[in-house]
Amino acid sequence: MPRVYNFSAGPAILPEPVLAQAAADMMDYQGCGMSVMEMSHRSPAFQGIIDTAEADLRDLMGIPENYDVLFLQGGDSLQFAAVPMNLALAKHGVADYIVTGQWSKKAQQEAARFIDARIVATGAEDNFSHLPDCSDLPLSEDADYVYLCQNETVHGLRFAQLPDTKGKVLVSDQSSMFLSEPVDVSQFGLIHAGVQKNVGPAGVQIVIVRHDLVPEGDIDGVPVMMNYKTHVDKKSLYNTPPCWNIYMCGLVFKHLKELGGLEAVQKMNQEKAQLLYDAIDESALFKGVAAKEDRSMMNVCFVTGDADLDAKFAKEATAAGLTNLKGHRSVGGLRASIYNAMPRKGVEALIAFMKDFEVQNR
Ligand SMILES: Cc1ncc(COP(=O)(O)O)c(C=O)c1O
Repeated sequence: MPRVYNFSAGPAILPEPVLAQAAADMMDYQGCGMSVMEMSHRSPAFQGIIDTAEADLRDLMGIPENYDVLFLQGGDSLQFAAVPMNLALAKHGVADYIVTGQWSKKAQQEAARFIDARIVATGAEDNFSHLPDCSDLPLSEDADYVYLCQNETVHGLRFAQLPDTKGKVLVSDQSSMFLSEPVDVSQFGLIHAGVQKNVGPAGVQIVIVRHDLVPEGDIDGVPVMMNYKTHVDKKSLYNTPPCWNIYMCGLVFKHLKELGGLEAVQKMNQEKAQLLYDAIDESALFKGVAAKEDRSMMNVCFVTGDADLDAKFAKEATAAGLTNLKGHRSVGGLRASIYNAMPRKGVEALIAFMKDFEVQNR
């Protein structure tokens, strides 16, 4: 079967040159006589893989020296607990959350199990169809950090501008926008991202944390594996890491560098998103879900206004080799995730299919 255009929100499409390289390395990684999957994480070969991956990521993102880069496990959802445990539990025990959709809501709810996690802005009353006004947030005097999800995967919302945190540490979940555009890391205390959208196979979370925020020792009630210090001290090799997944991330980092870095990647992503949003705006059948000024470049949510027709669209699109266009189960509708690895041709094929579907279903 030919490869399909996979619009899944994650696990998601990966660059074909990376998949081809992984296939070529599978039986014998660089003369080791084994695949990376079979390799000891204590071997010089794997040390080379993880060191190179970190160096390439630092280079791509321009990560300052005073930030640690961690390759962790447990699902990005585990960071919803790890962040308050590490950044607040042994301090004031207070954090302010900007709730803009499912993922920041989950993060706030999880944090509330451990600390006083206050909601300072929310888009809930409008079904998360746009971002709340964050120009003058009622931040808590004693907040240890302010938290946001910079790109809400389910609702297709993106912060084009960061909120003013009035000097408070900013924590960002960048899972579904990681490496899709340049970011100024120094504006954040901590960035976390599950890699299964833009970077690699599920099983790794990347945490980029300013060194002074890493706990100095044990914290009462916090498991060793949840303490960032453990992983900073051991350079992400405290226990057995997901070696192959980290290797895959490393291949993607190299690939993005070859494409010209994050400015070049952003340009491609802007063009793809513009094409698709223009097609939606020009259509008499399809309607965008997110407010125009808050639209995600990665997750494009749209509807026909008729749930049966949405289902028909997703089904017929799948048959035409355009897969995973069904919206998230919690909101319905349609969603095209157009991550870095989605070629422009894939977006063009989707637009052509939408136009045809509109004619057939008028
Ligand atoms: C923005 C965002 N944050 C967190 C998560 C949770 O990631 P995981 O499934 O790895 O726990 C997701 C998953 O889709 C997501 O989109």
